[in-house]
Amino acid sequence: MTLNVKALSPHIGAEIEGLDLSAPMSDEDFAVVRDAFYKHAVIVVRGHSFDDDDHIRFSSRFGELRTLKFDKYLGERRPEIFVVSNIKKDDQYIGAHDAGMFWHSDAPFIPKPHGPSALHALEVPQQDGRALGATHFASAAAAYEALPAGTKKLVDGLQAVQSLARRLELAEAIGITSATLQQSKDQEVQAVHPVVRIHPVTGQKCLYVCDGYTSEILGVPADEGKALLKELTTHVIKPEFCFTHSWRVHDLVMWDNCSSQHKATFDYQLPQRRLMHRTTLVG
Ligand code: OGA
Ligand code: MN
Repeated sequence: MTLNVKALSPHIGAEIEGLDLSAPMSDEDFAVVRDAFYKHAVIVVRGHSFDDDDHIRFSSRFGELRTLKFDKYLGERRPEIFVVSNIKKDDQYIGAHDAGMFWHSDAPFIPKPHGPSALHALEVPQQDGRALGATHFASAAAAYEALPAGTKKLVDGLQAVQSLARRLELAEAIGITSATLQQSKDQEVQAVHPVVRIHPVTGQKCLYVCDGYTSEILGVPADEGKALLKELTTHVIKPEFCFTHSWRVHDLVMWDNCSSQHKATFDYQLPQRRLMHRTTLVG
């Protein structure tokens, strides 16, 4: 079967139809998938069951995978698999239970942020036959493109601080505390990156500030920086730049951490279970 690429919204997201992830992918198919990924920033593959080995084989076609040797959520899994879940074992979460609480891209707070991430749904919470725990995506490239010329000129040369502490403060503000995050705050995990990142593959300009991690825009007076940050992070997530993925078991969604941002939905709780496996490329 030949592959079909179906756009899911005007600016972001495409479903690849006809791809069976349980089998190795031909070079011809990979060329189609790769083009669709860089064009649409988020690709969705659904309809066939597949396992961790298939997930790893598929995502490693895009480059080197990050391994998580010392990750506390690793358990007995492969080091390439990061677990996102609200499930508990022996009273401990088996994975990151609060991943994606705020709009973000993955790991902008390190000097070399992650490449693409690919999330595989193994258990999807349900209510009355309806899937819960959807994930929202926004196009950081389309959002940049739509900025007024004056704003583009202003932000093009600016840098911003991306910090884990920012995320911790947002979580604390809604009553959520986490030992891991407290530790990160104490260690001052942060990095400085351009407000506008040039995409390493497409050359597109992408707005690289997000509500979840960007704490400060540098090089402008503090008040002005704060207002600008608010303006930009609200702009990126305008409905016209977004689409929402409603999960089914064995969906794989791969997103670009430069040209898109994402956010999870927390509209479920145990005994409604959500279990996702993520691979992540080295940035
Ligand atoms: C992630 C993430 C969102 C979700 O895994 O990086 O943000 O909906 N996940 O699980
Ligand atoms: Mn994420």
